[in-house]
Amino acid sequence: MCGIVGAVSERDVQGILLEGLRRLEYRGYDSAGMAVVNGSNQTQRAREVGKVAALADAVTAHPLEGHLGIAHTRWATHGVPSQVNAHPHMSGERLAIVHNGIIENYQELRDELKAEGFEFTSQTDTEVVAHLIEKHYRKLGKLYDAVKAAITRLRGAYALSVVHADEPDHMVVCREGSPLVVGVGIGENFIASDQLALLPVTDRFMFLEEGDIADIRRNSIEIHDREGTPVERDITRFEHGADSADKGEYRHFMLKEIYEQPKVIKATMEGRVTGSRVLEQALGTEAANLLDNVRHVQIIACGTSYHAGMVARYWIEELAGVPCSVEVASEFRYRKHVIQPDTLFLCISQSGETADTLAALRQAKKAGFRAALAICNVPGSSLVRESDLVIMTQAGPEIGVASTKAFTTQLTALLIFTLALARHNGLAEDKEAEIVKALHLVPGQVSDILALNAGIEEMSKAFMDKFHSLFLGRGSQFPVAMEGALKLKEISYIHAEAYPAGELKHGPLALVDSEMPVVTVAPNNDLVEKLKSNLEEVRARGGELFVFADKSAGVQEEEGIHVMQLPEVHEITAPIVYTVPLQLLSYHVAVLKGTDVDQPRNLAKSVTVE
Ligand code: G6P
Repeated sequence: MCGIVGAVSERDVQGILLEGLRRLEYRGYDSAGMAVVNGSNQTQRAREVGKVAALADAVTAHPLEGHLGIAHTRWATHGVPSQVNAHPHMSGERLAIVHNGIIENYQELRDELKAEGFEFTSQTDTEVVAHLIEKHYRKLGKLYDAVKAAITRLRGAYALSVVHADEPDHMVVCREGSPLVVGVGIGENFIASDQLALLPVTDRFMFLEEGDIADIRRNSIEIHDREGTPVERDITRFEHGADSADKGEYRHFMLKEIYEQPKVIKATMEGRVTGSRVLEQALGTEAANLLDNVRHVQIIACGTSYHAGMVARYWIEELAGVPCSVEVASEFRYRKHVIQPDTLFLCISQSGETADTLAALRQAKKAGFRAALAICNVPGSSLVRESDLVIMTQAGPEIGVASTKAFTTQLTALLIFTLALARHNGLAEDKEAEIVKALHLVPGQVSDILALNAGIEEMSKAFMDKFHSLFLGRGSQFPVAMEGALKLKEISYIHAEAYPAGELKHGPLALVDSEMPVVTVAPNNDLVEKLKSNLEEVRARGGELFVFADKSAGVQEEEGIHVMQLPEVHEITAPIVYTVPLQLLSYHVAVLKGTDVDQPRNLAKSVTVE
């Protein structure tokens, strides 16, 4: 995904920009560039396809000297990876801009600006913004006013940083749907799409909010909100290591990673959805063409990632009306397939290095699937390199062997993908808006669940001395039950089995007694009444039930039924939210049992062998 860095300083900024870009490399990109306003008030630019190292070589040979500059790593959405499509984009010789995100109405703006005489040198949506700002600059004579006027015409998601050689002492930045942070220095200030880019130069950050526009100078930062009101944004200090491979205040990585979920789910949405729509171009240049032609989806994954695929099947069939099959990679790779025409092959993997998943992908590429899409958390991994299209989850490094934040970000990415596919298959605009709005609520709902931690810890005591457990769910909550059971067995070593609740009477009911806790995920949906009958079947056999449900599901706490009340959530996003209490439950059981939570026996984080 694209990355942005910018600096205004007393010193030369080239080195700061280059180091910032290097630190953004982890996000994945295909080209890099920078523009610097030099001492003679000219804007100089360098752009290279490929690695930041190539750009570094270019600017070492021909330095861009100056005290104001912007830089970018590009991940192509509009137009192939090439030097002319790389950022910064310019309008004329003096205005330069870097952009993260997607401008949805770029074609309309492009036609309009062309008719007015602006010449385009790239296929990007960003160049449209450069010319639009320049057009307003000619009228208004001030960069800040020009940016403010131009963005009223933009639809989509963006984080922008703009410089102009006529105003060499500042840059103007703004955000809407894509992240942007201001790094606060002493006698110098910076901006970036991710604070990690700026750690060598500052540890003080101001996070811009949606709709903010800011004027960044060496000694001042002025911010206005969407309504044009001057606003102050808090300065927060970066706690070194808190975001990296360090447990911080947490006892285990797993707990830290559970608590990171509101933030990383939000990060996975950023730049890919507006308030009411999915930006399908954010899925890649080829996305629109591909999605138009997908008639079937084959999902392949292992472990927790497989459970994410199982949830996605419900979404894909319900919302997109496209048939979807899901299989574990180790099975798929060793059998013959009947491939339906126009089948999209979708691999899900946290690490991007799981041997079975990679083998399945390689086989699929030979077998004639239409294209391979990867949902992955590690940029530059084999899976990412070998797939045609990639949606990166933004979970950050996951250290705990039991996957938590990778799973909920996979679900987030899968729902975004599903909505994009569904739009090509007739999903109504208002339904898409309803689900996107529900998705925006998920980070807050996950935070509400984290606030129930103490109650879930209390509940976990009932599992400590048990040897077996059952997890039940129906519909898209069945894979959530599977993931809950996997978490418990992985880290507490208690035998845990998941069943679709309707199957209970076909076998597992024979096992139910007071020694077999039964965990159930029961949000209020079409199936809740049927699920309640299944719970009665358990109670009648003396089983002890632990039910996670919202208030409207109407499950009452009574003898043998322990209810943990969760927030009301949209049926489609419920699997993301309902996963979290099950993660906490397993975590606390494991802590009580004294197992090695982060590195359970016999298991590995990344299974790179068959
Ligand atoms: C291992 C890990 C699991 C993970 C699975 C698939 O079993 O312990 O947490 O879900 O591999 O890994 P992947 O990286 O492909 O998602």
